[in-house]
Amino acid sequence: MDIHQVACVGAGLIGQGWAALFSSAGLEVILQDVSETVLEKSMKGIMSNLRFLEANNLLQQGGADAALKRIKMSLLISEAVRNADYVQESVPDHYDFKKQVFREMDIASPDHAILASSSSGLLMTEIQKVTTRPQRCVLVHPVLPVYLIPLVEIAGGDQTSPETVRATCDFMKRVGKFPALLKREVSGYIINRLQAALLREAIDLVDKGVASAEDIDQAFCMGIGLRDPVIGPFLRIHLAGGGVERFIENFSQSYRHRWETMETWTSIPPSAAKKIIRDVKGMELVRTKTLEEIENWRDQMLVKLLKVLHEKQVKV
Ligand SMILES: NC(=O)c1ccc[n+]([C@@H]2O[C@H](COP(=O)([O-])OP(=O)(O)OC[C@H]3O[C@@H](n4cnc5c(N)ncnc54)[C@H](O)[C@@H]3O)[C@@H](O)[C@H]2O)c1
Repeated sequence: MDIHQVACVGAGLIGQGWAALFSSAGLEVILQDVSETVLEKSMKGIMSNLRFLEANNLLQQGGADAALKRIKMSLLISEAVRNADYVQESVPDHYDFKKQVFREMDIASPDHAILASSSSGLLMTEIQKVTTRPQRCVLVHPVLPVYLIPLVEIAGGDQTSPETVRATCDFMKRVGKFPALLKREVSGYIINRLQAALLREAIDLVDKGVASAEDIDQAFCMGIGLRDPVIGPFLRIHLAGGGVERFIENFSQSYRHRWETMETWTSIPPSAAKKIIRDVKGMELVRTKTLEEIENWRDQMLVKLLKVLHEKQVKV
């Protein structure tokens, strides 16, 4: 399927990241949101993201200005999606918002258009019910910052056609993404389920007074975080135990002790919330830098890591 014209519905953090990515890949983009103030703020964010990509040789010289010229703004969904081949929705993560917006996108876009949602965990089976083209609706979940992190999770709902999933995967590869395909939908998909498990344990370690938030971040970044971009949890257990079968044989008991002492709560306990707010606000980086400065530093570090990770494609 040929995709030339893209609409981004919702111009918050994620919508502006998509607009920067699509326009830098040479596509014509219409960015839509409900107020001019949001759109202007968003365009400033996009400009700064594109300049960052250019400064780091991830866009050729002059590429940022050329990409910016490919982005137009609109306050109306009906106008933004009118000629779109692909629509990426990024409005707040509630079924009410998603359904209202999908209804409007469905009415106003061409019949062939794919309607994709950036949702972080909602189910497409539920959202697609409000459209007349459920077979062309799909989840495409990005990772922040969208213009830098390669992964997208792709999942169809019960009525999504295999052709739509295939065309969406091809399109994502074309704009430089690495799609991970879910065989079936599940709330939170892959990465937010993994993150939720890790986050609950990190919060509980602070709540139980085992370590500070800063030390837990440090343990993550200098330990498992540093190694896991290269191998992931399953290859890790294969290497940790002298083969996956031996790992299961030898480590099952010690893992049972850990799992048995782990919390299973589903809302952050108020005592833990207080402690993590105190700890995060006390971190040196948080005390001495603005959010924007920390984001810029994160992006600089990510570019360096991504350059190294490109070499991972050259297999051992
Ligand atoms: N923030 C993240 O880390 C992250 C990561 C991946 C996916 N997501 C998902 O992306 C989506 C957007 O998240 P975000 O962080 O960009 O939120 P955000 O609050 O930054 O942006 C949402 C935007 O949607 C706009 N909006 C609200 N109603 C609208 C409507 N009817 N029409 C058009 N625009 C409307 C708002 O004005 C706002 O600008 C959510 O589904 C979220 O779960 C977020």
